[in-house]
Amino acid sequence: MTSETQAPTRKVILTGDRPTGQLHLGHYVGSLKSRVALQETHKQYLLLADTQAMTDNAHDPDKVRRNVLEVALDYLAVGIDPAKTTITVQSHLPALAELTLMYLNFVTVARLERNPTIKEEIQARGFGRDIPAGFLCYPASQAADITGFKAHVVPVGEDQAPLIEQTNEIVRRINHQVGREVLPEAAALIPRFGRLPGVDGKAKMSKSQGNAIPLAATPEQVKEAVMRMYTDPNHLKVSDPGQVEGNVVFTYLDAFDEAVDEVAELKEHYRRGGLGDMVLKRRLESVLQAMLAPIRERREALAKDPQYVFDILKHGTEQARGVTQATLDEVREALGTFRF
Ligand code: TRP
Repeated sequence: MTSETQAPTRKVILTGDRPTGQLHLGHYVGSLKSRVALQETHKQYLLLADTQAMTDNAHDPDKVRRNVLEVALDYLAVGIDPAKTTITVQSHLPALAELTLMYLNFVTVARLERNPTIKEEIQARGFGRDIPAGFLCYPASQAADITGFKAHVVPVGEDQAPLIEQTNEIVRRINHQVGREVLPEAAALIPRFGRLPGVDGKAKMSKSQGNAIPLAATPEQVKEAVMRMYTDPNHLKVSDPGQVEGNVVFTYLDAFDEAVDEVAELKEHYRRGGLGDMVLKRRLESVLQAMLAPIRERREALAKDPQYVFDILKHGTEQARGVTQATLDEVREALGTFRF
């Protein structure tokens, strides 16, 4: 069976990233790895969400523009195959902007303010009372992204779950109003491993916290990051018993070392005492170096030919334009928008 004959029965996936910096190991564990697998079984769209990125980067549009290419390089380097996954650029999909405007009428300001993701991000960005209106409203834009592609499944980190919930609220309101299912509800697909902590032991790996290992990191940067990784602060002598929980080196071994049984033994040994941090760090470093080397190699090769990458984005965006415009037409029709 060719992929063409399979295509109509495949469930649709839409997910995306704000292009504000290179992707890192946290993204890899949280979503990139599963996207590489899901492209085999689903019709997958990846959205470079540059319009959404502008909602908190309007002062630095350059950064957003430059990172469209960087994130696309990360996608391709980890094994996203443009023949299987459609990679597309949000700012070139006007139907999504129109759906956003429509959806804003099906959500209240109070509901937007109560969205846990938004609340947390407002805090983290220190907006205080000066919240850009576009930022407060981006859940409606994300709802447009998801429904514009009629996505059934949205693979995202758990921090994004409230956005899928809010999307489904908008979907239900519209479907209820028009008395039929114009738009499908979407299910969040949260990775089992959850969030990867930063190398400093903080809850989340994030570029802005300076605790991230980018996929494009040099071997020296990988080594440096592993060497300064947070372990058990009370494990002073090799002979001391050590704590595994909250020990970032073990968290990373769990995430990346495929020799699960060996890691289990190392944990035992560490708890008993007699196992030094350096032994573990060297092991983790070699696991990460082996994993990142082919990614880095592919990334460097692709980076030499940005035109090739732009052509992929252009092609994907053209495809997505048709899909999202069709959804917009259906929503307008269903709501009974004026027609000449
Ligand atoms: N909000 C997501 C993030 O910050 C990016 C994103 C934009 C997205 N549109 C989306 C994710 C649609 C899933 C579906 O990473």
